[in-house]
Amino acid sequence: MDALRQTFEQQLAAALPGVEITPERPKSGELGDLAFPCFRAAKQLGKNPVALAQELAASLHVEGAALVAAGPYLNLKLAPETRAQAVLGAILQAPAGRPYGAHPANGKKVIVEYSSPNIAKLFTIGHLRSTMIGHALAQVHQFLGYDVVRLNHLGDWGTQFGTLLAAYTRWAEAENPELQRDFDWAEPAPEKRRTPLFRLFQLYVRFHAEEEQDPAMRDEARDWFKRLEANDPQARALWKRFRDLSLAEFQRIYDRLGVRFDTLAQGEAFYEDRLVPTMQRLEDAGLLVEGDKGARIIHLEDVGIATPCLVQKGDGTSIYATRDLAAALYRKEAYAFDRCLYVVGTDQVLHFQQIFAVLDKLDPWFKGRMVHTPFGMVKLPEGKMSTRKGNVIFLEDVLDEARERVAAIIEEKNPELKDKADVAEMLGMGAVVFFDAMNDRVKPITFTWDRVIALDGDTGPYVQYAHARILSVLRKAGGDWAAKAQAGLAEGPFLPFADSPIPADLGGLAAPEAQALLFELAGLPGAIGAVAEGCMATPLARQLVSVARSFSGFYTNCPILAPDNTPDVREARLALCVATARVLRQGLFLMGIQAPEEM
Ligand code: ARG
Repeated sequence: MDALRQTFEQQLAAALPGVEITPERPKSGELGDLAFPCFRAAKQLGKNPVALAQELAASLHVEGAALVAAGPYLNLKLAPETRAQAVLGAILQAPAGRPYGAHPANGKKVIVEYSSPNIAKLFTIGHLRSTMIGHALAQVHQFLGYDVVRLNHLGDWGTQFGTLLAAYTRWAEAENPELQRDFDWAEPAPEKRRTPLFRLFQLYVRFHAEEEQDPAMRDEARDWFKRLEANDPQARALWKRFRDLSLAEFQRIYDRLGVRFDTLAQGEAFYEDRLVPTMQRLEDAGLLVEGDKGARIIHLEDVGIATPCLVQKGDGTSIYATRDLAAALYRKEAYAFDRCLYVVGTDQVLHFQQIFAVLDKLDPWFKGRMVHTPFGMVKLPEGKMSTRKGNVIFLEDVLDEARERVAAIIEEKNPELKDKADVAEMLGMGAVVFFDAMNDRVKPITFTWDRVIALDGDTGPYVQYAHARILSVLRKAGGDWAAKAQAGLAEGPFLPFADSPIPADLGGLAAPEAQALLFELAGLPGAIGAVAEGCMATPLARQLVSVARSFSGFYTNCPILAPDNTPDVREARLALCVATARVLRQGLFLMGIQAPEEM
């Protein structure tokens, strides 16, 4: 395909000197494989775009393809066998270790910072967005040849620890001496909630509720944070325990989601001994100004940001922004990155504008390297989720519920299925993660159970089902057909598929439905590129749905194992099945979704 594109581009460039040549993907394979919109060229040449398209169609020639004018577009359409050859070749004979759509190393380093939950709070459905969008971005960048560093800026420092320490010492220790073991101080909670982290969460909610009545409690919390920053041993020990407990629980969730980080050790607390030097650098650069009540701020009006960046409170304690500045300076030294992506919600747009603006003032090196990729908040029908108020939806509940719904369907439709529990988990996860990806990244999402774990329509399970159906066909075909669609365990984003020959005769793929499927498969590299460009998984999710849907058309209209198929037809169609299964499995894998082989 790349070679044909090149020839097409070269011919166009020769015919239209001085014109930018950027062929696109036509709307459907019916129209062709590449489309050159003639508008701009026509304008530049003072011609009519429709006439120009016709002129080019008549004068250019690309071996193995037809050039057809369709209105203002010049379409390049491959002969059916050429298309099959090009697409199957790219998928089945991809270079070793570099599956279809992957690029060789490009020497560029990208930091993807994602998930970043706050310690001692539970994982809510809101954290899913940062975690899975970030995971997909990390996977895709690595797939595209970037050197990727996966960081988690854990919220393991800050005034919320003052609140927790105050709440814990106030109630937990006093009310239940057994607490050292399991925090079992509160009213009985549902069994699966009896985790230490949930106890901490309850403490946190209770403190905020009572603080409304008794504002003096606010000072108590502030004092505890000061003690923590001042290295008070009791505060330190408790903080460390809360942190360890949280990390263990987060790790369990990351394992369940199949998400990993290069380190979990670079949370906010990691930057503690870099805060003073950071403040010093800001001071030396002449950026610090005295704000209200002795606070230290940086003015940013000159770069169009009205709200100054607060970097130190009046009582001398650091804040979130200080730690982000320290983190960015550290990352420059430690990683010398080309880009740093912050996958953080839209509610922090101003925060990152401020941080990036301060960094630009401090060191021009940062200019253009820092990217906030905001995502819309997950809302409940009744409004925003709030950990403080305790009205949140926990991620694990969503994953569990999705798994249970799938399990019930399996029980009803396919009770003999092997590894039922694993399949239910994969499909439940597929539903939840895919739902998230199909949503526009920046728009808020209203959470309702039925939408998030829907199994019908343009969902993860629909794509997973297409994959499983293909494997079932391949198993029935016998020989090593099923093995050709399988891949061993993967390091990073690359599924190691083996090289597989392309059948000599591809005449069995001439039908329009087979051609349509080939066209959708050809769209994968572009969709993956669009994920990195737009910093969201949506284009990939959509393309996978298109592939699954066109597979369904192919499957219905082009019998694969029909006894009256010639061996050539059968082999060509099976090869297309293998290619499709690989693409679906690899695509889902980039998004953090597993594809079961049976369902
Ligand atoms: N812990 C923060 C939160 O839950 C997100 C951290 C985002 N990353 C950053 N570098 N500030 O809101």
